Amino acid sequence: MRNVTKDNITDVFMGYMGDDVNPRLREVMGSLVSHLHAFAKEVNLTHAEWEQGIAFLERTGDISDKERHEFVLLSDVLGLSSLVDMINTQSEGTSSSVLGPFHISGAPPLDIGGDMKGRFEGPVLLSEGIVKDTDGEPIEGATVDIWQTAPNGLYSSQDPDQDTYSFHGLQTTGPDGRYAFTSVKPVEYEVPTDGPIGEFFEACGRHAWRPSHLHFIVKADGFKSLVTEVFPDDDPYLDKDTVFGVRDDLVMSYQQMPAGSFPDGFALSGQVDEAYLRVDFDLVLVKG
Ligand code: BEZ
Ligand code: FE
Repeated sequence: MRNVTKDNITDVFMGYMGDDVNPRLREVMGSLVSHLHAFAKEVNLTHAEWEQGIAFLERTGDISDKERHEFVLLSDVLGLSSLVDMINTQSEGTSSSVLGPFHISGAPPLDIGGDMKGRFEGPVLLSEGIVKDTDGEPIEGATVDIWQTAPNGLYSSQDPDQDTYSFHGLQTTGPDGRYAFTSVKPVEYEVPTDGPIGEFFEACGRHAWRPSHLHFIVKADGFKSLVTEVFPDDDPYLDKDTVFGVRDDLVMSYQQMPAGSFPDGFALSGQVDEAYLRVDFDLVLVKG
């Protein structure tokens, strides 16, 4: 097409694609570009605004590296990561939720009943549940990769004062499907605001807070992997998670357990005399 216009540019773009291009790529790319063109026309995008957008994306790329995934964070704060999760979630199982940029692979094995609290101060949290299928049958040999922030609201990869794998552990379920560990009560925290996403929050009048949560990746042979998080029902940010991760079935309640009631079978058994918190949360995997 020689005379490209505002009205035909999307069709011209589509016409430039090769005949043998992957049909899914054609569908995704065609839709993306037609929405992009429609957006620019709808808002009458100016040169200055286009330049600002390009510069923002460049800064997002500049700050990114192997450890800092600013584009993932951008996707998270735009709601895209959560939308993709919801589009692909199986309704019968536990809902999935954002992975976030702070998961690190290679977490050390954590015995059932093991402890992640270590030397850190803060309320003891005992967390346990069953990994099961949608018929309620326990799943043996499931791996549960667990991670959370330290009481200062930082993940180990953000905090030079923590060991690489502090507040990270990998449990493998036995025949009863049970996972169980102790930790510190998670805290709410702000996602990183020292880069372009901080500018985005500022410009949009938005806060950077996430409600407190525990992260899980659950895998088992013959089942779809589950990436999720659980949130306490009394968290002040439950209704305003800046990355849109909260789902009804991921909200749990802490039970306040009295002093002197800490059970046997945990690494901390015999060492916790004070009151502590307990949460029971089952993780349901879908076959596939
Ligand atoms: C997280 O929960 O670790 C997280 C998720 C999205 C963005 C930033 C952090
Ligand atoms: Fe998190």
